[in-house]
Amino acid sequence: CGIVGVAGNKNAVNILINGLQKLEYRGYDSAGLYVSDKDGKDCLIKRTGAISNLKKAIGSDVKGTSGIGHTRWATHGGVTVENAHPHYSQDDRFYLVHNGVIENYKELKEQYLSDFTFTSQTDTEVVVQLVDYFATKENMNAKDAFLKTLSLLDKGSSYAFQLMDREEPDTIYVAKDKSPLLIGIGDGCNVVCSDSLAMLNVTHEFLELNDGDFVTVKPDSIDIQDKDGNKVTDRKPFHVDIDASDTDKGTYPYYMLKEIDEQPNVMRKLSSEYLNEDGNPEIEEDLLKSIKQADRLYIVAAGTSYHAGLVGKNLFETMAQIPTEVHVASEFAYNMPLLSKNPFFIFLSQSGETADSREVLVNVSKAGYKSLTITNVAKSTLSRESDYTLLLHAGPEISVASTKAYTAQIAVEAILAKGLGEADQIKAATEFNLRQQLGLVATGMQTIVDEKEKMNQLSQDYFVNASKSFYIGRGIDYFVSLEAALKLKEISYIHAEGFASGELKHGTIALIEDKTPVIGIITQKNTSNLTRSNLEETMARGSKAITIVTKALAKEDDDIIIPDVNSMLTPLLSVIPAQLLAYYTSLNKGLDVDHPRNLAKSVTVQ
Ligand code: G6P
Repeated sequence: CGIVGVAGNKNAVNILINGLQKLEYRGYDSAGLYVSDKDGKDCLIKRTGAISNLKKAIGSDVKGTSGIGHTRWATHGGVTVENAHPHYSQDDRFYLVHNGVIENYKELKEQYLSDFTFTSQTDTEVVVQLVDYFATKENMNAKDAFLKTLSLLDKGSSYAFQLMDREEPDTIYVAKDKSPLLIGIGDGCNVVCSDSLAMLNVTHEFLELNDGDFVTVKPDSIDIQDKDGNKVTDRKPFHVDIDASDTDKGTYPYYMLKEIDEQPNVMRKLSSEYLNEDGNPEIEEDLLKSIKQADRLYIVAAGTSYHAGLVGKNLFETMAQIPTEVHVASEFAYNMPLLSKNPFFIFLSQSGETADSREVLVNVSKAGYKSLTITNVAKSTLSRESDYTLLLHAGPEISVASTKAYTAQIAVEAILAKGLGEADQIKAATEFNLRQQLGLVATGMQTIVDEKEKMNQLSQDYFVNASKSFYIGRGIDYFVSLEAALKLKEISYIHAEGFASGELKHGTIALIEDKTPVIGIITQKNTSNLTRSNLEETMARGSKAITIVTKALAKEDDDIIIPDVNSMLTPLLSVIPAQLLAYYTSLNKGLDVDHPRNLAKSVTVQ
C-alpha cells in the first residue's frame, strides 16, 4: 500500500491525488482520502479501483488544507469501499491510514471493542477505534490515545500510520514500525509519504524515520520522538536528486515500454558510474575487504530480483571464485539454511523496501553478519540498514513488471564480481573487458528494442490466444527462462513456466498440447544442442517452438537472433525479447500493462 499526507497547504487535495498516482505501483485495488481545513470543515472520500476513479469522484466541494490519503493492496478484507482507507472511529472523530499488518487485531477487538460498531473487515479499523476508545473512555488527548494504542500492538506487527483528529484539523500524527515512511519538508507545509517520488512536486528534502518513531506533523513544525519517547533533535534531512519529470511517461503509452527502451542507457550509465578510465571497477575498498573475508556469499531477494540473483551466482563464482547461494527471502527468513563459517549477505531489491528481504536483513544483522544491498532507491530501508549499498542508477522504475532493474542488477553484480576477482588477480576477472562488454550489451539491447515489432507479431501469432506456455533453457538460460515466464504471466495472465530444459521430460512435458508455445533460450555453446533436442521433443508432441539464440549459435530456422556478447552476460540480452513479448501480449489482450491484477510493485508486508 502507499500513503501520503499533507499538513497546511491550500492545494492539499491535488497534492494528495498526485502523490497517490505516483504511489499507485504500491497497490491499486482501492483508494481514499480525508481532508480538513482550519475551520473544521472536512470530507472523506473512497473508491474501489484505480486512483483515476477516486480523482473522478472529487467534486469542487472537496477542499482542505491538510489531509491523508491511501492506495491499497488488500491484505485483510476484500476489495470494497468499506475496506478502503482512510478508516474512521464510530463517532467520526479520528481518521487513519495504514500500510502494514496488525497481527493481534482480533484479540484487541475482543478485549476492548466488543460494543463498537465496525464498518470494515480490516485490521486497521481496530486501531482507529482503539484510539477513540482511549480518547473517550480514558479521557486522553489524541496523541496519548494513539501512543497507548501503539503500545498494545503485537511486536510482529508492521505499520506506517497517519492519524488525524477532527479536533486538531492541521495536525497529522505519524507512527512507523517496519513499513517505510518519510517526512518531507515543504515551503509553509510539511508532507508525509511512503516513497519520496510521491512528493517531488512539493519538496526534495526528506527526513527518514526509524522503527518506533512517533511524529507530530504540523504546517510549521515536525516533532519526532523515538521509540523510547525521547525527543529527536539531530535528524538531518537528505536531498532526493530525482527530477519530478523522470517519473512521467512522456510520449509512451505505458511505463513498461519506456523502461524497456531505457535499458541501453542504464548500461552506459552503470559503466560510467562504476568503471574508471581503464575499465576497472571503482568500488569502496572496505566493501571489497569485507566480502573477501567471507567464505560464501548468500544472495537474498524476491521476485524478479531473485532471478537476477540466480544469474549473479555464475558471475561471483566465475570471476571472484567465491561459492554463492541464492535464496528466496520469504523462505530464508523462516527456514534458514546451515550457514558457512563466514557468510556475507547480498540483498538485491529494486525498491529496497520488500518486507520479506528486510526480515532476513534484520535477523542476519542481529547475528553480526555483514551485508550489502544492491538497490535502485538511495536511502531505502534495506540500503539504510545494511552495511554497504551499491545503487542501480536505473532511474525510477514505475511499471509493476520489473525490467530495467533486472538488467541493472545483473550489470552491478558483474561489476562487483570483477572488482573482487581483480583484487585477487583471478584471470576470469582480469581478462574480462567489462567496459567494452557493457558497451556491446548496450548496442545489442538497442538493436533488439529497435526490432520490437517482430515481438508484437509473434505475440499476435502465437500468444494472445494461448492459455499456457513454457520458456526453457539450461544454466543461465534456465535462470532467464524463470524471469521470462514471470514477465509473461504477471502481465498477460497466460500461465507460463520457466523450466530447466532437460527436466521437462521428467513429468511436465505431459502439459504440452497442440500449439502450446515453447520458447527455447539458447546462448551457451556447451548446452545449445541439448536445449535444441529438448525443444524437438516438445515439437514432436505438437508444441509451437520458438527460439531466442545468440548470433554465433544461430541456425537457419531460428526465430529471434540476439547479438553476441561474453557468455556470462547473455542474460542482459536474451531477456529483452521476453520483456517485449510479455508487453505486447498484455497490450494485444487489452490489459492494463502497468497495473496487472492482484499485484503491487513494492510489497511491504510479509
Ligand atoms: C514485487 C514485485 C516484483 C518484484 C518483487 C521484489 O512482488 O511485483 O516485480 O520483483 O516485489 O521487489 P524488490 O523491490 O525487492 O526488487
